[in-house]
Amino acid sequence: MVKAPEPLDFSQTAVDSIPPDGVEAIAEILRSGNLFRYGETGGIGSNVAKLEQQFAQMHGKRYAIAVNSGGCAIFLALVAAGVTPGETVMMNAFTLAPVPGAIEHCGAEVILLDTGDDLAIDLESLQHAVKTTGSRVLLLSYMRGHIPDMDEILKIVEDNNLVLIEDCAHVLGAKWKGHAMGTLGSVSCFSLQTYKQVNGGEGGMILTDDADIAARSILMSGSYMLYGQHLAGPDEEVFSKWAAITPNYSMRLNEMSAAAVLSQLPILQQRIEKWNSIHDRIAGGISSIEGLEVPNVSRMIQPAPTSIQFIAQHTISEITSAISTANSLGLELKWFGDEAAKGFTSHHGHWSYLPSQTLESTDSLMKKLLDIRLPSTLSDEECDALLEILKYAFSGD
Ligand SMILES: Cc1ncc(COP(=O)(O)O)c(C=O)c1O
Repeated sequence: MVKAPEPLDFSQTAVDSIPPDGVEAIAEILRSGNLFRYGETGGIGSNVAKLEQQFAQMHGKRYAIAVNSGGCAIFLALVAAGVTPGETVMMNAFTLAPVPGAIEHCGAEVILLDTGDDLAIDLESLQHAVKTTGSRVLLLSYMRGHIPDMDEILKIVEDNNLVLIEDCAHVLGAKWKGHAMGTLGSVSCFSLQTYKQVNGGEGGMILTDDADIAARSILMSGSYMLYGQHLAGPDEEVFSKWAAITPNYSMRLNEMSAAAVLSQLPILQQRIEKWNSIHDRIAGGISSIEGLEVPNVSRMIQPAPTSIQFIAQHTISEITSAISTANSLGLELKWFGDEAAKGFTSHHGHWSYLPSQTLESTDSLMKKLLDIRLPSTLSDEECDALLEILKYAFSGD
């Protein structure tokens, strides 16, 4: 009988604090009372407009539109890219609830695609769906940072004239063969929610080089007729095409969230390095525990991981017992195979508003797939303590 390790005394929901210049910028916003991005007079120097400009520049994209959440960014991107009610949209089955939610929000029909052993989208399933459904839109989630072979994806997109919308909620700062994620499709969407690479509390971002998509997104996000205050938007004549025929869905980002994110962009790279070293240390430890496997990451990918996923070759009852042991020792272990959706973790079978689909590979993977959030604040000692608990939880003692 192995002795139980000491419980963890850190919170896995810990996050980095907002850098001092962000705190000062937020205090200034509060002192001034100007929490709204648009000013009736001026407003051109708003934090939201500056954030859009910096986000566009750091990705080498022409246009950026900040909105109130990642889910709304996806909704607006779909509509702006021309998705209409009743149309089909293909998406990874392995993703989070806001993704099918965004498709449903625009009245379109969800087509789920299967998952490969690398936890990214299964290419055969994509090719099959393109042939059998005639769908023209691929909403590609890099769920938990898992990126498919983008050369293959881009070939399928080009050969079939698909519209590629990238869901980059988990990959800000990650790269494929040196190309930043969010620069490979027609339009890309990011989340600025607290547990992402940058923390705005709430928020989302849309990036595109397409002037019509940008103008429609800005108008739909709720710019009234103040779109001239954007610093990363298209020219006036593009708006004049769309202004009168585009509804306002009021999905703007607020000044405080933008100021918080602006203060984190200069340290993003440093944070990503820290996350990679935490991830590598934990991945090495997990792989040395019998029956646990961390999927391989292609050498083409430069990751920016905020969590780790691993496969447990155990029975359902062994997994549930390991989860409860780990949780009782302060390690929050999440499982994609649970009968009910919990917290941020769900699988397609939980989205009962969708027609049910059998996806053999996804369904068998989810039953074995576990997930741990990795706060960037974790020290080496905390990583090792976490691994001790995991080892103990899966030892069956
Ligand atoms: C894969 C994925 N896409 C999109 C989103 C949407 O982000 P938000 O929570 O900002 O709406 C999330 C949220 O966590 C997500 O996990």
